[in-house]
Amino acid sequence: ARPWRGVIEEYREWLPFDAGVKAQTLGEGGTPLVHSAWLSQLVQGDVFVKVEGQNPTGSFKDRGMTTAISAAVAQGAKAVVCASTGNTSASMTAYAARAGLVPIVLVPHGRIAAGKMAQAVMHGADIIQVRGNFDDCLDLSRGLAKEYPVALVNSVNPIRIEGQKTASFEIVDVLGKAPDLHVLPVGNAGNITAYWKGFVEYEAAGVSASRPRIWGFQAAGAAPIVLGRVVPEPDTVATAIRIGNPASWTLAENARDESGGRIDMVDDDQILAAQRELGAREGIFVEPASATGVAGLLAAAAAGEVDPGLTITVTVTGHGLKDIDTPMSHRLEARGEDLVDAVIDVDVDAAAEVA
Ligand code: F0G
Repeated sequence: ARPWRGVIEEYREWLPFDAGVKAQTLGEGGTPLVHSAWLSQLVQGDVFVKVEGQNPTGSFKDRGMTTAISAAVAQGAKAVVCASTGNTSASMTAYAARAGLVPIVLVPHGRIAAGKMAQAVMHGADIIQVRGNFDDCLDLSRGLAKEYPVALVNSVNPIRIEGQKTASFEIVDVLGKAPDLHVLPVGNAGNITAYWKGFVEYEAAGVSASRPRIWGFQAAGAAPIVLGRVVPEPDTVATAIRIGNPASWTLAENARDESGGRIDMVDDDQILAAQRELGAREGIFVEPASATGVAGLLAAAAAGEVDPGLTITVTVTGHGLKDIDTPMSHRLEARGEDLVDAVIDVDVDAAAEVA
């Protein structure tokens, strides 16, 4: 066995890079595909969780950022810009720091989880808070990239999708086949586009004999694709997917329709419950947005919409440590008392009494 080399070197023949392009990498990808006994039992099938929070900056964004930053360097860029709800900026600033590029991030004012903001700060970015939402930030960063010499690395840049599709390759490589169903959260809709592209490419090349249906889930307060119209004021506890006008809207619909899948929504209570259960039952701590796919699968199972006997993969997109304020305040509210069960002196019997 050799060490994991990051997604560009692991999957170079599947990516549109000339042989000479140097990989700017932090060793992203190769994330665990964890079997879930809990979810498997619930759906009477075999459910695996793709834990993308294990990437270097704690989210799936690193897969597309290694490719985007490598391409930007190869094209001679000196500065890069992105709009972000937090994870893209955390990832971009890390890869830009490594590559010696100046990172500029545009984030919605007051709506970024503290951990993600800390990442951009520590990686030395120019951080601009915009009085507006993510969709406004994306418009701004597109405008900047058009008029100034900065490279745009949002997922509207196709090289991002190329990197992110490697998650599908890994799933097929580990399972030895394509799953019957793949479930994931949907925000700006780049990732659902990327997964579908990966599954389709592996099937076309004969690596897998089939491709999965794709089920995407949005948060109910930010569900433009489900509602079929732009949501001008998106609102959800899952700040990462608080997006009202996804850039890859049509591509997400293609993934849904070509795969025979669906895009649906779950509310904030369902998202927080799924986040909590994943943590308490499986030991997997994800941020709220990341639990949206699991919440969707749970809702579908409860409604009797999941056929028995399927192999199902669910992507959880980012690490729980990025946003500790949301779950802590909701747990506090739910319990109505302190989250600590007891405060005791240094005494074995006192500890035993509590436990
Ligand atoms: N989950 C997490 C944790 C995310 O950060 C995002 C997107 C998504 C899901 C949705 O993925 O946009 O490809 O449909 N975050 C972007 C950002 C918008 O700026 O970090 P998508």
